[in-house]
Amino acid sequence: MDTAVQVPSTTRYAKCIEASKKVRWEIDRDVIRGRNFDYTKKFLPDRLAQMASFGFATPGEKRFLSQIQGRTYANMFGLVERYIGAKLAEISGLHALGDQVVFESLVRFTDEELKHQELFRRLETMMAAGMPAGYTFLPQPNDVAGAVLSKSTWAVLALTCHIELFTLDHYRQSIDKDPEASDLWKDVFLFHMREESQHAVLDELEWQRENARISPAQRESAVGDLIDLVGAVDGLLQMQSGADAEYFAAHAGRRMGKSEIDAVRAGLLRAYRWQYIVSGVQNERFMTVLGEMLTPAQMQRIVGALEPILKDTAALAHA
Ligand SMILES: [Fe+2]
Ligand SMILES: [Fe+2]
Repeated sequence: MDTAVQVPSTTRYAKCIEASKKVRWEIDRDVIRGRNFDYTKKFLPDRLAQMASFGFATPGEKRFLSQIQGRTYANMFGLVERYIGAKLAEISGLHALGDQVVFESLVRFTDEELKHQELFRRLETMMAAGMPAGYTFLPQPNDVAGAVLSKSTWAVLALTCHIELFTLDHYRQSIDKDPEASDLWKDVFLFHMREESQHAVLDELEWQRENARISPAQRESAVGDLIDLVGAVDGLLQMQSGADAEYFAAHAGRRMGKSEIDAVRAGLLRAYRWQYIVSGVQNERFMTVLGEMLTPAQMQRIVGALEPILKDTAALAHA
């Protein structure tokens, strides 16, 4: 049985290596190219930023909200890539003396995530210089990585597959189509997406491999881990939406009352939940792979846990 499943899998790993070599890019030579962000333009497209939630905002305030969300978007990727790189290094090690094609594909994946983290650190430095002072990205990469990596490999790979699939959806469905976004902003996520395409395939393969390895009891417990991880992501989003609302209010150019700041915070939280949780749950590939692994009762546990978040973003689901 092992040989039967491993042959096509190895071919898929090999294809990822080939694609990874073909799209390989360098931060300065290919992405930044001596450019800066254009602050007269938006960063995160309206659809992804759920701009419809901010009906009260002037065009200038909407542009600022898009830039704040865009800055947090870049920092969120830099954040999760810390744990993803660490997990992939661990999984690569398991293949070090095994199939060398699988090993190489996962080492490349790890290397790319290290480069992406450097890219997002560079962008944060550029945005700190170009935007008003006072922005804070609260989650700490190593603290988050420590919490995520304490969970079972099945759950960590499930979360990772979800993230890398929604990364592709965001670019293809929103960022690529936005004529108003800063050119550098769009290019960053074009180049990022080109390498994430391979990561999404590798996540799925390794997640399925892990799924086949564990017992039903371990899977039952891993479902609880995945629910905990989504809850932890939501906790980070609540924290950052508060910080970003305060930053917006401090630079909005007019006095804002507490209820107005609360409305901005609620709008940002809905947008962040859409970006980092709900858009991934709507990815067909993710739900198919997950559904094939779980019993209906386990699927129901996950859907039930997501319900409050889905409800909060329900009005936005088709925006
Ligand atoms: Fe990445
Ligand atoms: Fe990735």
